[in-house]
Amino acid sequence: MKSSILKDSYIDVHAESKSISWVEYNVSEVEQINIAEYNLLAPEYDLHSHETTRTLESLSWDSIHELENQYHLCSHSRSVLEVGSGTGNLTRKFLPLLDDNAEISFIDSSINMLHELAPKVEAINSKIKSHYICKSILSPKPDIIGSKHDLVLCGLADPYFINPLFFHLRSLCNTSSKLIITIPDYVWGLAERRDRLQVPVNRTRFKLISGEFVYPYSFIYSEPELNALLSSNGLRVIEKFTHTNSAPINDLPPSVICILAEFNF
Ligand SMILES: C[S@@+](CC[C@H](N)C(=O)[O-])C[C@H]1O[C@@H](n2cnc3c(N)ncnc32)[C@H](O)[C@@H]1O
Repeated sequence: MKSSILKDSYIDVHAESKSISWVEYNVSEVEQINIAEYNLLAPEYDLHSHETTRTLESLSWDSIHELENQYHLCSHSRSVLEVGSGTGNLTRKFLPLLDDNAEISFIDSSINMLHELAPKVEAINSKIKSHYICKSILSPKPDIIGSKHDLVLCGLADPYFINPLFFHLRSLCNTSSKLIITIPDYVWGLAERRDRLQVPVNRTRFKLISGEFVYPYSFIYSEPELNALLSSNGLRVIEKFTHTNSAPINDLPPSVICILAEFNF
């Protein structure tokens, strides 16, 4: 089963095409694979052995923190949506910054991830009004999440960072909503996948305690592709920068791209 995933012809159109032509992913297949893989991974996601993920998380938070120092978006937002919240490694960093009267919604397609997250939220702030939604953000009806949000956080959004995401996010935003997205950098990600992990460019790999591997989707984009993806989906970029770790993994230092944006309405 796993080896058949690796043999599948997920052609690296992103990396090899000179012009920008999107791969049309089968959304339900992407969702099914991610749900299965992240459900298996959830109980052991926080293990120190997932060193690369810890490095990416720390880069992701550093960049969001940099934005917070400048724009105070977490501390000033009344309604926050965190997409793909996972076990809460980003949540526990920004949650203490939120106002006690703020409301927070978490959406993750993996129920096991939400099970890991909920006690952490409770331990950090038991008073905050929180909503847990087990649903894919790529699905047609994420409108159960409620009204519009002041701030949408998508930390390490690579598992679901494809065109349909923006259509659904748009319906959860208004003219003043801000989006913060972090994703692994393309150049580093490409080298990591080709040379070290030996997986297709749109997948990553985690080793489970059992010795088995899981291969969730992980979409990364070159600079021109990323710019085109954002602008063609009606996003105005306010800030976009790269955060890099000085310690190389696989010869290149891991990097994370951080985007602050809003929808053009
Ligand atoms: C790489 S983890 C990031 C966790 C967290 N945001 C952080 O920065 O530590 C990605 C998370 O996205 C979730 N996810 C994957 N596909 C999703 C989708 N279509 N809709 C919502 N969540 C999704 C996974 O279940 C996982 O919890």
